[in-house]
Amino acid sequence: MAEPLDPQTAGEIRKRSRNFFEAELDRYQDVSPPSIQDDDRTRRLLESLPVSPESKLIDIGCGTGIVASHLKRLFPQARVCGLDISPKVIARAQELCRTGNIDFVVATESELPFPDSVFESAVCRFSLHHYPDVAAHFREVRRVLKAGGIYLIVEVLPQAGRFQTMLNDVFTAAERESAGHVAYYSLEDYMDLLAPAKLKLRSVRPFPLQLKIGKYLTHCQELRKTPASFQNRISFEEGEDWFSVRLPAAGLFAEAK
Ligand SMILES: C[S@@+](CC[C@H](N)C(=O)[O-])C[C@H]1O[C@@H](n2cnc3c(N)ncnc32)[C@H](O)[C@@H]1O
Repeated sequence: MAEPLDPQTAGEIRKRSRNFFEAELDRYQDVSPPSIQDDDRTRRLLESLPVSPESKLIDIGCGTGIVASHLKRLFPQARVCGLDISPKVIARAQELCRTGNIDFVVATESELPFPDSVFESAVCRFSLHHYPDVAAHFREVRRVLKAGGIYLIVEVLPQAGRFQTMLNDVFTAAERESAGHVAYYSLEDYMDLLAPAKLKLRSVRPFPLQLKIGKYLTHCQELRKTPASFQNRISFEEGEDWFSVRLPAAGLFAEAK
């Protein structure tokens, strides 16, 4: 499990993530591919959130607002907020969701600009692997959630051991420089990280995440150098201008104690 990074490295990681998504904004379809954009699975995970009328929900690392929009459609009475580190990404989310009645805010994962105990549910989809201090992030999420509230994390979920090490060494290390990736966590890591923040893992719903990645994302060329056994495990394929991989992922539901 990754230790929290020192403040300077943490700041650099956040800057890299921001720069990466801002540079890729016009190709967001690619960095957040169609399998993620219109994902029925995500919708089904969101449907399971316990949401009462007029509750407040937050989508953390919201990108262009895909999850926030799903939330608003599923729970029209709820007040939905999307938060992201990048002002440019948030401006695009506001443009794309302008009729959606969603509040968007620029902030980082570990300084959520809200009072205590305001949200009934929080969601974070495919953003957590960019966070330099996950323990601090979980404490912040717990602070802004009401007791009994749910935090739904949708992420790549490697099995602990060689596979996780390989995935983090190859995938994440290659993308740390370019895209500000920090780590993908195993179930054991989540349990260790959530408990001190008084978040209790309630259920895990695994699913395979099929990703097709444009070859122009040069850091993904690293995938080519991986051993055949690893490539088999992630169903690595290569076309003229794309790579495709299938990664184990899950929706993890944690309850605020
Ligand atoms: C892969 S995108 C996922 C976007 C969206 N959640 C979705 O599922 O479509 C990751 C998002 O996390 C944001 N992000 C990265 N690091 C962050 C941080 N430290 N705090 C807040 N947002 C962050 C990025 O700007 C980007 O929009």
